[in-house]
Formats: sequence, C-alpha cells, structure tokens
Amino acid sequence: MTVITNIEDLRVLAQKRVPRMFYDYADSGSWTEGTYRANESDFQKIKLRQRVAVNMENRSTRTSMVGVPVAMPVAIAPTGLTGMQHADGEILAARAARKFGIPFTLSTMSICSIEDVAQHAGEGFWFQLYVMKDRAFIERLIDRAKAANCGALVLTLDLQILGQRHKDLKNGLSAPPKLTIANMINIASKPRWALGMLGTKRRQFGNIVGHVQGVTDMANLGAWTAQQFDPALNWGDVEWIKNRWGGKLILKGIQDVEDAHKAVQSGADALIVSNHGGRQLDGAQSSIEALPAIVDAVGSKIEVHMDSGIRSGQDVLKARALGARGTYIGRAMLYGLGAMGEEGVTKALEIIHKELDLTMAFCGRTDVETVDRSILLPGTFPTA
Ligand code: GLV
Repeated sequence: MTVITNIEDLRVLAQKRVPRMFYDYADSGSWTEGTYRANESDFQKIKLRQRVAVNMENRSTRTSMVGVPVAMPVAIAPTGLTGMQHADGEILAARAARKFGIPFTLSTMSICSIEDVAQHAGEGFWFQLYVMKDRAFIERLIDRAKAANCGALVLTLDLQILGQRHKDLKNGLSAPPKLTIANMINIASKPRWALGMLGTKRRQFGNIVGHVQGVTDMANLGAWTAQQFDPALNWGDVEWIKNRWGGKLILKGIQDVEDAHKAVQSGADALIVSNHGGRQLDGAQSSIEALPAIVDAVGSKIEVHMDSGIRSGQDVLKARALGARGTYIGRAMLYGLGAMGEEGVTKALEIIHKELDLTMAFCGRTDVETVDRSILLPGTFPTA
C-alpha cells in the first residue's frame, strides 16, 4: 500500500473505497464549481516569507476557539451524511477529534444522532443547527444538544435553500442508497464499506427520523431539504435561537461585511467566513479572499473563523495569518474517514498538524499565537 503523506493521498483512497454517490456528494461544488475550485486555488496564490537562523525549538500550535483550548486552530466542520462515508462515521470522527484535542462539529444532517455520538464518543462536541419550518422540532433539537452538553452551537445561515450540485441529481443521492442495479454494482466494488454498513444499524438521518412527525424515510435529501428547511429564516430567528440555546453561539456562512456587522449585533461569540465549501452560491468569492475585509471590519468585536478550501496545514497557517482565529476542515476529514475510518481521520489531523507546525517554523515563528500578516509576502494576499 502506498504511504499516506498528504490529504490528496487520503482523497484518492476514499474515492476507491466509498460508493460513488457519497464520494461525489463530498467532492462537489454547486453549478460550475467555480467557487469550489477558487476556495483551494486562491490559497495557492498567497506566498509565505521564508525566514532563517531563527531558533525553532519548543514550538506550539495551541490556541483556543470560542474559549475552548485546541491543539491547533482547526475544528472538524459539520458535514452531512458523514456516516455514509464510513459506517458510524460521526462517532469515529468525533473520537479522533477528541483524542487529538480539537472540536468535532456534528451536523443536523448526520447519520449518527446527537445522543448516539454523546454515548459512544463522549459529550461536549459542537452541534450544527439547520433551521426547519417545524419550530417545535428545532426547539427539541436545541434542547437535545444542551442535554448532550454540546460545547457550542454552530448555526448555519447560508443554506435555507440548496445550491444545485449536478452529480447528486445524476447519482440519485439518498441515504441509505436505493438498491438499483447501478448502485448494487457500484457498492459490490466497495466491500470494506459494505461490510461496515452491514454491521451497523446507523443508516438513516439519526437526528431526524423518529423525531419529526411523519418522517420515517427521507431518502431524497434534496427533496426533503426543499420541503422542510425554512426559507424564511432571518436575523430575528437568530435571537430566539440564541436565547433558547444560552451557550456559545457561532454563526456559519458569512461572506459579506454587512452581514458580519449583523453577526456582531446578534451577540454571537464567533462567525465563520464560509461559502459552504463552494456548495451554495456559485460565483461567490473564495472564502480566503473574503476573510481580510471581514477581519478588518469586525475582528476586534467578534471572533472570526473560516472554512472552505482548507486542505493543508499551510492553508491553516495562511488563514490564521489573515486573522482567522480558527479554521474548519470538512472534506479533508471526510477523505480520511472514507479511506480508513477513525485511523484515517487521525491521519488527516496529523498531516495537517505537521504541515502547520513545520511551515510556521520555516516562516520564523514558534508559537501560532504570534502568527500575523507579516509572515505573508506583500502583494500576494487579499486585503480589505
Ligand atoms: C449540506 O450541508 C450540504 O452542503 O450538502
């Protein structure tokens, strides 16, 4: 077997091992995928300044995100259907994150439920909330996250309606997959995945099925989202959600300075500069390009985090240099999970940590807390 040395190796292995519809679900952007690609390629344009003959002993990547100590400025992003990339995926990823000392964020659209993850991977993980029309259900979801002692609520604001991802429509994405001839042929070539799935009872949307009246099967994610997600969600809702929750609140999906000001007014603890991994508004700026203007506008009033496009420790370092206190990895984690389960997620975290640690040192810094824009080559990074 090839030696795994970077996230791309994990991606290639995941593509071999995960049924096509779930691999494609992760590795997709909306429409032309222009924003999806820009999220990664804009990181490449930013150049680092190499410094030499600096004492590189005793390095530290430790910091905090919303007051939570973290081993590096990285949390696991909420990703839908994680438990379809690998059996019991959310539990495995949450365990890997806990052992590594970073937060795991559970998606509303997870396969393993809040209670299941709490029981099998420990309490305290973060919970991501989608707002649906059925407000009583949302209140119960918030209460369930409280009961599991979730450390923060991550409220997603950029997915009231779903951006179109062509492959999901073409593949007939559903969880569990429909047993069509084409799916059965594809799954037959993924024996590790299939054995794992046969050995678990967790194959449906665990937070939803059995918790919303009339929902016993939500096979088609796109149709279900269109029916249930609340297109009327607005800043007024943020207030009642904040009050009901009462704990640390993180607003996900901010790309515009005006919205960043509204996030500050809402009293949230942090905002995440994000375009949902290029899966929603195709044609939007990349997240790393949007970051500096938001940091300059509100960085002294609210903690600014970012996601979308992070595939390496170098990317984490660049985001941190541009003012993101923390970053989130979605696909980098999913590729590890799809490739090798819990071990693969740990591998992804180790790879990113090592890249961050060594690259920081090459830039002449030994403590991530001291990293700022001066490690970047002027003229190569976006400014406000
Ligand atoms: C859900 O969050 C998705 O991007 O599919």
